[in-house]
Amino acid sequence: MVVVSGSNATTMAAELANSLGWEHHPLETRRFPDTEGYIRIPTETIDALRNEPVVVVSNTFPDSGIVETLLMLDAVQDVRQGRLQNLREIGPQTLPDVGKGVILAIPYFGYSRQDKRFKPGESISARAIAEMLATRCDGMVLLDLHAPAVLSQLSVPVAFTTAMPELAVHLKQTVSPDFILSPDKGAIDRASSVAQQIGCEFSYLEKTRIDAHTIVHKAKDLDVAGKSVAIVDDMIATGGTICRAAEALRSQGAVQVHAACSHGLFTGGAIARLLRYVDGVHATGSLPNARDLISGGPALARGVNQVMGELGLDA
Ligand code: R5P
Repeated sequence: MVVVSGSNATTMAAELANSLGWEHHPLETRRFPDTEGYIRIPTETIDALRNEPVVVVSNTFPDSGIVETLLMLDAVQDVRQGRLQNLREIGPQTLPDVGKGVILAIPYFGYSRQDKRFKPGESISARAIAEMLATRCDGMVLLDLHAPAVLSQLSVPVAFTTAMPELAVHLKQTVSPDFILSPDKGAIDRASSVAQQIGCEFSYLEKTRIDAHTIVHKAKDLDVAGKSVAIVDDMIATGGTICRAAEALRSQGAVQVHAACSHGLFTGGAIARLLRYVDGVHATGSLPNARDLISGGPALARGVNQVMGELGLDA
């Protein structure tokens, strides 16, 4: 089995390949002077992609990641279906189709937030992007997707995988929290699974988002006096959610507050802002970030194995 990656998820691809004991082949990527992307599968990788199923690891964030993902899938499908015609007539021009076996693994699925139509005429972005990608692969793996329900009807098997087990192990070893807090109702399942695995107390806050930079939490008594608390969320963007939750915890006597997530977007100086409120920030490397402390490879590997099983492919 082969793992390939382009320019935006190389570390995750390497971690996945390492978890599965498979080869990792980085593809050739570059940009034309007008910024458009270029993808090429190196000659030495072509045979590997035809001999075995392949996992393409790529993020759909930022926007250029969507294009790169499509170009990689297109190039991989051409190779596997034997469409190798090229103007320089290098190598065989056509070969037999080797059949199904292209799995797309997306560590951070950009556009996951718009998963509902709030006003008539809005694009349901999460569904639009996923359906487009599903036309070019045989199965998909999505890590800690914000709200999986919107992708329940895709035309290919999808594994919704999570790095929460690895996040729990990491927190237990480095922070040893007494209490896990979900900063909103949306993160309850994820955060409570971490609390259960660690064997510590759990609670959640109710959050109202006023705008992208302003959130408020409903006041709630939390039994955190003298305790070490970790706030667990799927993603941290501006850091506003975590900072407000940390304020609530400190005001109720928490002595240590840490923030942990799968996806560290950390927009606009978020890490510096966060470190004024919390003692530590912990993330996976689903997106390249300065707090990549938790391996996302094992979670992607679980998802790939699930999809392989559903497709009837052998590892
Ligand atoms: C939203 O419900 C998500 O789970 C996160 O809580 C949110 O995206 C974090 O954003 P920010 O860091 O900008 O508050």
